[in-house]
Amino acid sequence: MRTRSKQRDARAIAHHYDVSNDFYALFLDPLMVYTCAYYRDPDGKLEQAQMDKLDLVCRKLRLRPGETLLDIGCGWGALSIWAAQHHGVRAHGVTLSRAQAEYAAERIRREGLEGRCLVEYRDFRDLPAEARYDKIAAVGVIEHVGIRNYPAFFGRVREMLADGGLYLNHGITHEFHWKRTSHTDFLYRYVFPNGDLAGLTETLTEMERARWEILDVEGLRLHYARTCRHWVERLEARADEARALVGERIYRTWRLYLTCSSAAFEGSSIGLYQVLMRKQRDRAGGTAPRTREDLYPPEGRFA
Ligand SMILES: C[S@@+](CC[C@H](N)C(=O)[O-])C[C@H]1O[C@@H](n2cnc3c(N)ncnc32)[C@H](O)[C@@H]1O
Repeated sequence: MRTRSKQRDARAIAHHYDVSNDFYALFLDPLMVYTCAYYRDPDGKLEQAQMDKLDLVCRKLRLRPGETLLDIGCGWGALSIWAAQHHGVRAHGVTLSRAQAEYAAERIRREGLEGRCLVEYRDFRDLPAEARYDKIAAVGVIEHVGIRNYPAFFGRVREMLADGGLYLNHGITHEFHWKRTSHTDFLYRYVFPNGDLAGLTETLTEMERARWEILDVEGLRLHYARTCRHWVERLEARADEARALVGERIYRTWRLYLTCSSAAFEGSSIGLYQVLMRKQRDRAGGTAPRTREDLYPPEGRFA
């Protein structure tokens, strides 16, 4: 396991995400979501599946108008913006990529969401000690945290959540727990300089140790296989533009990494889980959702 510092984490994030917004726009959906989509229709399109994923996260968090949402690792701001627009929350996103934060700020301005949605270039660990939110999401962030830092991560998220609040963690897991292979060496060297992955049970154990009540766990592995496949197809369809923007080497590196990732999800050596947690208030219960009944809206809500 590698040693970590905030500077090192910031450099690693810049290596991956500051490749350029225009490059990511070539293969991501129009909302620029860079995590597993949710295909309600197994043959569905990426654009629809990403909107459905954003809304699924908001519904799992039972967002209500006027609540505050912290979106840790918000990327280009898609979830924060969606939650403010469609669920009436006040959203605060933080990312370690300047390029992402600038892009998100511009989109927030364009969509007239200033005052309801804020995206900042900031390490979530640097949020003020007294910061408190009604709900928290971390979508695609645990991959950057480092396994040995899970206790600190889950503990810090807990501090920032209001009593009884809900937290959704959406992240990749590794089937056999983290070990070094030629695949991980390639990823470390060229793609994610500080990524590592734990197994699901190891992750859940750390969540429980940090005193989270686990309410719901959903595996979306095959959704991520399809998402990565869609990204590769879209990247290949715009190969000339990609080469012109970032050069042959980065184009090929990203194409290989996305292809390998799709195969790894398909073959189940890695997985993707959404875990919904609650900050326990007292043993009497409070407002925790009792069923999944409210999660699934009628067909075609965002068609
Ligand atoms: C895979 S992207 C996911 C982005 C977004 N959640 C989405 O679904 O499209 C991971 C994000 O985590 C952010 N991140 C990683 N470590 C962070 C930290 N310590 N503080 C804030 N953001 C962080 C990165 O900057 C990036 O925006």
